[in-house]
Amino acid sequence: MKPRMLDLYCCQGGATRGYQLAGFHVTGVDIDPQPRYCGEQFIQADAIDFLRTRRDWIRETFTMAGASPPCQRYTRAWKIQQREHPDLIGPTREALEDVGLPYVIENVEEARSELRNPIMLCGAMPEFGLRTYRHRLFEAGGGLVLAQPDHPVHTAPLTKMGRPRKPGEMAHYVGNFSGVQEARDDMGMPWANRDGLRECIPPVYAEYVGLAAMAQLRETAVA
Ligand SMILES: C[S@@+](CC[C@H](N)C(=O)[O-])C[C@H]1O[C@@H](n2cnc3c(N)ncnc32)[C@H](O)[C@@H]1O
Repeated sequence: MKPRMLDLYCCQGGATRGYQLAGFHVTGVDIDPQPRYCGEQFIQADAIDFLRTRRDWIRETFTMAGASPPCQRYTRAWKIQQREHPDLIGPTREALEDVGLPYVIENVEEARSELRNPIMLCGAMPEFGLRTYRHRLFEAGGGLVLAQPDHPVHTAPLTKMGRPRKPGEMAHYVGNFSGVQEARDDMGMPWANRDGLRECIPPVYAEYVGLAAMAQLRETAVA
């Protein structure tokens, strides 16, 4: 029996695929239907409401939880447009702490002040070897500990928006980017479309988190 991971705000399953690669059986939760979702089980629900109303069942069923609340509240583009987006990081943490499982909350760099002692993962780290920098922060809680890998200096230039990528350049998959197949190949997400790729964390980041969690689970089982 594989340990079970609850992946909140799962979208098409970038994080889910990484947790699967680390050895978890994954249940995804998203407020929208996700016909492309790659996990073993999908539940359409509001993530915080789901945590609150199914708390005991979640505690009994899952070993760990991951959450990727939407980042629009924190990104520069949306601040410029001055649109209001609710803070979901704080209420998600509160609901996760109430459940009591080890957890990780992932978000963009602009949300750093909302996260507690996050580590930062970058595609250029030797652990990942991606062709996109795609910085993402990960807060660990509920007893989970994550190590910060060394961050290499960025030497490869970013591909200019709307231009094809030249050899040695790093892609930036945001907005209405072009090159969906290239993004699928870069991320390791052949099932995803542009919307899922724009939103996703690269599966290798979640695999890193999932493997650390697995190692800690084994230690706890032995102790
Ligand atoms: C940044 S994406 C998550 C990306 C995902 N972790 C991945 O790696 O592919 C955020 C997702 O949160 C979903 N979402 C937004 N508000 C939500 C809510 N209140 N409850 C559950 N899901 C929500 C959106 O539909 C979107 O799919």
